Amino acid sequence: MDFEKIDSYLKENLNEFRYQHTLRVVDMGIILANKHGYDDILKVKLACYFHDAGKNLSPNKILDMVSNEGYKLTCEEIENIHIYHGVASMIIARDKFNINDMEVLNAIKNHVTGVEKMTILDKIVFLADFFEMGRDFDRVHKSRDAAIIDLNLDEALILAYDSTINELVSKRRFIHENTLRARNFILRKLNNCC
Ligand SMILES: [Fe+2]
Ligand SMILES: [Fe+2]
Repeated sequence: MDFEKIDSYLKENLNEFRYQHTLRVVDMGIILANKHGYDDILKVKLACYFHDAGKNLSPNKILDMVSNEGYKLTCEEIENIHIYHGVASMIIARDKFNINDMEVLNAIKNHVTGVEKMTILDKIVFLADFFEMGRDFDRVHKSRDAAIIDLNLDEALILAYDSTINELVSKRRFIHENTLRARNFILRKLNNCC
C-alpha cells in the first residue's frame, strides 16, 4: 500500500487539525493493537489513516455519497449528516484507493457510532479516535487507562460511550441508535446478560 499517496490525499483534503488528529489516531491504533495482541498492523494503519478521510467534505457531498450507497436516512440523520462521515471515508478508501478488505472498510465505516458485535479492529479504531493523545480532557482519561493499563477494551468502550452519551445529552443533541445499540450490546456482554 502506498502510504505516501494516502498521506498526500489526506493533506490535501483535510484541514490541519484533522490531519494531525489522524496521525495521532494512527499512533494510538498501533499502541492499542500491540497491547491487545492484534498483529495485523497494516490493517490498523489503513483503517486509522482513512477513518476521517471524508470528515471535511460538505454536508451535501456526504449526503450524496451516502445516498448513492443505498442508505435511506431519516430526517434526524440528514440533519446530523456528519455522523455519516465514516461511511463517506469508507467510500473514499474503497473507490479512490481500491481498499477491498472488509474488516478495514467496516472499521472505517463504524468508527463514529460503533455497531453491535464490533470486531477487535472496530474497537481499536473507535477507541484510538476517542482518546488519541491530543484529546487530553478528563472525560477520556478513564477509557484510555482501561484500554492501555487494565487491557480491557470492552470496559474502555463502555466508559467512552457513557462519556459521549452524557456529553450529547447535556447539549440536547441527537443520539444515533447505533450508539445506543453498540453500548448496550457491550454492557450485556460485560454483565453476562442473555
Ligand atoms: Fe471521525
Ligand atoms: Fe477522528
